[in-house]
Amino acid sequence: MSTIGTPLSSTATRVMLLGSGELGKEVVIALQRLGVETIAVDRYANAPAQQVAHHARTITMSDPAALRALILQERPQLVVPEIEAIATAELEQLEAEGVVQVIPTARAARLTMDREGIRRLAAETLGLPTSPYRFCDSQQALQAAIDGSDGQTAIGYPCIVKPVMSSSGKGQSRIDSAADIATAWDYAMAGGRVARGRIIVEGFIDFDYEITQLTVRARGADGAIETHFCAPIGHLQQSGDYVESWQPHPMSAAAQAEAQRIAKAVTDDLGGLGLFGVELFVKGDQVWFSEVSPRPHDTGMVTMATQWQNEFELHARAILGLPVDTALKSPGASAVIYGGVEAQALVFEGVEQALAVPQTDLRLFGKPESFVKRRMGVALAHADDVELARQRAKQAAGLVRPRVAD
Ligand SMILES: Nc1ncnc2c1ncn2[C@@H]1O[C@H](COP(=O)(O)OP(=O)(O)OP(=O)(O)O)[C@@H](O)[C@H]1O
Ligand SMILES: [Mg+2]
Repeated sequence: MSTIGTPLSSTATRVMLLGSGELGKEVVIALQRLGVETIAVDRYANAPAQQVAHHARTITMSDPAALRALILQERPQLVVPEIEAIATAELEQLEAEGVVQVIPTARAARLTMDREGIRRLAAETLGLPTSPYRFCDSQQALQAAIDGSDGQTAIGYPCIVKPVMSSSGKGQSRIDSAADIATAWDYAMAGGRVARGRIIVEGFIDFDYEITQLTVRARGADGAIETHFCAPIGHLQQSGDYVESWQPHPMSAAAQAEAQRIAKAVTDDLGGLGLFGVELFVKGDQVWFSEVSPRPHDTGMVTMATQWQNEFELHARAILGLPVDTALKSPGASAVIYGGVEAQALVFEGVEQALAVPQTDLRLFGKPESFVKRRMGVALAHADDVELARQRAKQAAGLVRPRVAD
């Protein structure tokens, strides 16, 4: 994009977000600071990003006809997917017709929308190290993949079963012995996004730690696309969902070089402009690719406390064709605040106590409805060392008490 127009005028630079959660909310804020007109789309009204965008639209984003109609009506220059569950084939068509540009590319959105596209690309096309895996359409096939009676290398125990279409650990469980297989299969069938009945079974990687390698593809001074890396983000997952993250995570020079090699290979192939969250497992100097988000990553919320340009600002700048700076400002940490209850219109107590913890900050996402395990906010902290920042973020998060309104 060579110029930026004036929002709400005929010259406006218009960007549409598909998905309007907490990550999209920060992307909208970053875009608005650069004078971009924003359209936030979600499947329900008053989603976080819709509360701060110029325009809010509520449609079923997995419905190709509804998605096409909205894009033709709004005519954004850029479409920025924030979630995976969208009609990506229709986006590919619209991109091919020259109607819109999809971030980073429509192909990347399609390949990463389910675990199969991206895993086959990473492992089979690019030859990157991953856990051993197999895709299965029945419990019998799962059993055969684990014990090797399908004629291929046995996946063995322990292993992890995940619906091909799922995120945030939904439908995901670990199998330690044959006795767990039926339960894991049923759990995956109940937790998948669409009832397609396909799962991936992965051999368990006994990693020392896991990181998110935020990687940005942005235009440099000469107009060519350059790859930039953020400092590694360490994180803790509980039942497949992130509860804490911190930056930087210490790594050996060899592991860091390998992490960057893998991140570059996969983001080079996905192409386009923008920020990617490359999830990696690390043991000693060995690194495995796990998955990639072609957009800001939940564990990267920590960068709101740690980087001069946080991951949302980096994404906004990169997609507009602007230069980026991934430098670290301070070590820091984030800790998730869950709803803890099923209710609408929650009230948050303890905000003043939380913010009294030194060097902390808070994001309350403003989601209209809470579930026990729904992420409703995040506490951020910075400090001279990561351990202190983690303590502060956890302390602040713990002081915020969501409750049902009287
Ligand atoms: N093969 C594996 N070996 C060991 N641990 C694993 C493996 N696969 C997943 N995990 C653990 O489960 C977590 C979630 O897995 P994964 O990222 O594949 O699921 P997800 O549903 O996409 O999660 P999210 O949407 O939060 O990224 C990983 O971050 C890791 O901690
Ligand atoms: Mg993940």
